[in-house]
Amino acid sequence: MVVKVASMGLLGMEGYQVEVEADVSGGMPAFDIVGLPDTAVRESRDRVRTAMRNCGYGFPVSRITVNLAPADIKKEGPLYDLPILVAILKATAQLERDISDCAFVGELSLSGEVRSVNGILPMALKARDCGFKRLFVPFEDASQGAVVEGIDVYPVRNVNELIEHLNHRITIEKATYVPEEESEDFLPDFADVCAQYEAKRAMEVAAAGGHNILLIGPPGSGKSMLSKRLPSILPEMTFEERVEASKVHSVAGTLPTGKPLVSGRPFRSPHHTVSAVGLSGGGTVPRPGEVSLAHNGVLFLDELPEFSRSALEVLRQPVEDGIVTVSRVHATVSYPCSVMLVAAMNPCPCGYYSHPKRKCTCNINSIRKYLSRVSGPLLDRIDIHIEVPAVEYDELTQHQKAESSAQIRKRVNRAREIQRRRFEATSVTCNARITSDLMKKVCVLDDGAERAMRQAFDKLSLSARAYDRVLKVARTIADLDESEIIREEHVLEAVQYRTLDKKYWSGEEI
Ligand SMILES: Nc1ncnc2c1ncn2[C@@H]1O[C@H](COP(=O)(O)OP(=O)(O)OP(=O)(O)O)[C@@H](O)[C@H]1O
Ligand SMILES: [Mg+2]
Ligand SMILES: [Zn+2]
Repeated sequence: MVVKVASMGLLGMEGYQVEVEADVSGGMPAFDIVGLPDTAVRESRDRVRTAMRNCGYGFPVSRITVNLAPADIKKEGPLYDLPILVAILKATAQLERDISDCAFVGELSLSGEVRSVNGILPMALKARDCGFKRLFVPFEDASQGAVVEGIDVYPVRNVNELIEHLNHRITIEKATYVPEEESEDFLPDFADVCAQYEAKRAMEVAAAGGHNILLIGPPGSGKSMLSKRLPSILPEMTFEERVEASKVHSVAGTLPTGKPLVSGRPFRSPHHTVSAVGLSGGGTVPRPGEVSLAHNGVLFLDELPEFSRSALEVLRQPVEDGIVTVSRVHATVSYPCSVMLVAAMNPCPCGYYSHPKRKCTCNINSIRKYLSRVSGPLLDRIDIHIEVPAVEYDELTQHQKAESSAQIRKRVNRAREIQRRRFEATSVTCNARITSDLMKKVCVLDDGAERAMRQAFDKLSLSARAYDRVLKVARTIADLDESEIIREEHVLEAVQYRTLDKKYWSGEEI
């Protein structure tokens, strides 16, 4: 007899329905799994057989064939253990209830415990969309599924419990979602940073328009300190943004148990030894990289020139498009990565080039070599470049308290609200992501601004991309100023944020 049991799989960020067909018939005892299984799926046979026996069920001495459909997608990981076991119990009449509106996902231990798997959130979303009423998942992962409305998600500890529940002998309570406030109390605050008014202003502009930003300055000037405070002035996430960010973490298995959604804007700061795959995602069993784990938040690359060239180069496209695509043999998977890129670096290997008081001990060639590790195309994608000079003693010891993150965030929110209304009918989320077809319509310059733009273009020999990006930053500055038209002062400030590449990378001064 052939029976069918529903399960879910994961292709990149999206769930898809998997049908587990089991056929138990006479003949030589055998147990085969077909339908493009990977090694972990093939090993299911041993786990399922042993778990069944250890839980007190009879394992059939017959020819068992399990097919995982659709057969053209490679099935990865041990998550089909549970549905395979359920299918065999059903095929051998050890489970008689109707389970056609149920789907099952979970790895098994040899003693029949159900173990955690990654990606329950996107799978639950898909199961709901496929019309399933009930989804049975590992106990630890159930809170993720509970976020999804329109499907009941049941936490399963072990096989016995599940079968007793399906046979109506005991009741497993379905998981419930308890909304949790974004917890940001522990976020470091801009009030701790003395002086550095220009750098703070640049951070505010970056946050207001979602622009990428690069901070250059000597050691100890506060670059890392400023960067870590960026999430505290970004607008709070909407529920949809939280779900989108959490899907990535669900797939990567980085959500803490019992925390179904990420609590605040992700802030990822990978070490500079990270590999290209670690940063952008992929691998033999594909996994989202750091850039995707930072989705809807901040990717902070501290000591930018120390990152390997290959790692930085693979970032170029994802940072621009907000999506990473990884090619596989059987399919192409993509992960979202709508991030603000924040990078920090010293101006030279010793760190003191152009420092007013300390002498730089580097020779020209080593400075050039150091700076050239950050390529032009990558620099072009960073809208705002800002110098963070060393702070003076008096500035550090002044008693006046600096502006708090909450105050700055109010202005950021106002600018974001203007953008939200402006882009309501489009897919654009913030000024940094204005598409080229919208540029002319939303970036209207007055005469003075037009002139300033022309002068800057000639003087700084900007690339076409840099030109667009200056305009987007000017759009944000005008929004902070609540001005619909972009005026000269807005352009001048935006242009100022592009003068450092000329200073450091054009080779003129050094
Ligand atoms: N503007 C400032 N206000 C208050 N404290 C500051 C400021 N700048 C730096 N500091 C202090 O100096 C420490 C070092 O700063 P931070 O780590 O941000 O420097 P950095 O610019 O990242 O240096 P490096 O180039 O060595 O990484 C901070 O932890 C903080 O205690
Ligand atoms: Mg630092
Ligand atoms: Zn130096």
